[in-house]
Amino acid sequence: MTVERASSNSAGFNDGDSRVMPAHVGIIMDGNGRWASRHGLPRSVGHERGVEALRRTVKAAQKLDLRYLTVYSFSTENWRRPVSEVTALFSLLKTFVNRDLDRLKNEGVRIRVFGTKEGLPDDVSALLDRAVRETADNTKFNLGIAFNYGGREEISRAARAVALELKAGRIGEEEIDEQLLASKLDTSGFPDPDLIIRTGEERRLSNFLVWQGAYSELVFMDVLWPEFGEDSLHSALETFASRERRFGGLKSGAA
Ligand code: FPP
Repeated sequence: MTVERASSNSAGFNDGDSRVMPAHVGIIMDGNGRWASRHGLPRSVGHERGVEALRRTVKAAQKLDLRYLTVYSFSTENWRRPVSEVTALFSLLKTFVNRDLDRLKNEGVRIRVFGTKEGLPDDVSALLDRAVRETADNTKFNLGIAFNYGGREEISRAARAVALELKAGRIGEEEIDEQLLASKLDTSGFPDPDLIIRTGEERRLSNFLVWQGAYSELVFMDVLWPEFGEDSLHSALETFASRERRFGGLKSGAA
């Protein structure tokens, strides 16, 4: 099983076979700060290099015919960082959207934003809305940007939306099931991630896609995010392809 096989997906090879090529990959882009300090640079430079790694990764994913990619860009917990760093991250997001939106639009990329608007500066919020609006008709590649995102916060909002429907009498309590709740999540319309990659030498989910990631394969990589690129993505996909996914069932042929 090689990534060459996966990359020939565009020719129809193994298309849609999630055991070989994931439909949806989520990435926790960790390690910008450590990369910067190891190079004697300010943390903000690490984040800038992080945006370059993001560009490389989107390009590599498009080349592989991946359909869905979600990146964790700012978590609800990141507000605990110094104001200067939070401001720098907002400003990087603005630069990214302003510089890359037209190109992404022309490449058929549909952008979705996951997370809450609460607390975001108006200009950041408006820019995210614009990116979503202007790419809404695209279908070639789906880029999810988890920004001001926390999985538990997202589930709480979904539960609140269900509660409001119940209160209004639009649904009965017997209709509340996994499917209904999932339809109220920000990620509705995206398949659950087959694979979640975390860079940066840590081994945890940090509140990323906690509902959706129930059966995701997890690949932890020691590479720091600014160093991530096409080769690292291929390596993660190779690892994914070598895993057997059972979704709580038995090993194939074991019954
Ligand atoms: C984790 O590194 C990374 C983040 C908190 C932000 C991720 C952001 C980017 C890759 C760039 C911004 C992208 C967009 C679309 C705006 P860290 O700072 O926690 O690294 P450390 O653990 O080494 O300190």
